[in-house]
Amino acid sequence: MLFGVWYVYQPYMKNRKRYTNFMAYKKSILKWAGNKIRVMDKLQGHIGNPNTFVEPFGGSFVVALNTSANEYRIGDINSDIIDLYNLVLNDANFIETAKTYYVNGIDRETFNNNRIKFNETRLPYLFLYLNRHCFNGLTRYNKSGNYNVPFGSYEKVHFPEEEIKNFKSKFSDVTFKNTSFNDPSYYTGLGEGDVVYFDPPYLPASDTANFTAYTAEGFSMEQQEELANICIDLAGRGVKVIVSNHDVPIARTLYAGAKFYEISVSRSISASGGSRKRASEIFAVWNGDDNSLFDF
Ligand SMILES: C[S@@+](CC[C@H](N)C(=O)[O-])C[C@H]1O[C@@H](n2cnc3c(N)ncnc32)[C@H](O)[C@@H]1O
Repeated sequence: MLFGVWYVYQPYMKNRKRYTNFMAYKKSILKWAGNKIRVMDKLQGHIGNPNTFVEPFGGSFVVALNTSANEYRIGDINSDIIDLYNLVLNDANFIETAKTYYVNGIDRETFNNNRIKFNETRLPYLFLYLNRHCFNGLTRYNKSGNYNVPFGSYEKVHFPEEEIKNFKSKFSDVTFKNTSFNDPSYYTGLGEGDVVYFDPPYLPASDTANFTAYTAEGFSMEQQEELANICIDLAGRGVKVIVSNHDVPIARTLYAGAKFYEISVSRSISASGGSRKRASEIFAVWNGDDNSLFDF
């Protein structure tokens, strides 16, 4: 009997520990497979409270949303995401209008029609609708730049009203950049007290897994190298730099000179032969404090 109670209780406690902090964070407007909310406590230990916080691979922007800074320079190359955020900030009736797209929306045919309409118009309200009704909150495009994620078949779909309100009050003075990570305007004048966080499309975790299709262009090895050079340059100016990536040998070579923090994330990744395995990731940190509570 006692053993039975322990058997049920023990995994519950493990998960409770893992998710308690995660529940405390503000959630993003977009559903985002692999967003960083689950490792936010560890990340926050490194980011602290910077003067300027820079995040050029923002995605769902949960990291910026849960970071307290005096100035934010944040963006993403994906114009669908950035157009949505800028509309949220500038359209006083955003919530009311966006809700109209949800009416009778949990239906494959409506989803497929809306996906066609979105690819013709790039209307941000439709992007939000698709993001919330699609399979697993994926953001994926084909080579022609058309959004191609299939219907998610959910019984209920959440409308992120609270998330939109939080986002508006947090970022009312921020203009989201729709540029590449190598845009110099992200980095001008940065120095000690500033933090740059990079969460690029990941290096392949295995020879067969290579998901870099957040944009039609993907993300090349040359871009990974260019990013590593930007990190080294910023670190030389006293800026604190953090990069997330898969824990693969090439990452440790690219970020040589940084301190590495290993994380095991609950997300599954594709492995060879179609099997799934747990992904190991790293934070590479330059100019970090050695007193991080979150070393692991
Ligand atoms: C791993 S996701 C970031 C997820 C984010 N940290 C979160 O928690 O939601 C990578 C992001 O990089 C963006 N991206 C891809 N290539 C880029 C580039 N050259 N410059 C800036 N952003 C890029 C993608 O659109 C995608 O949103």
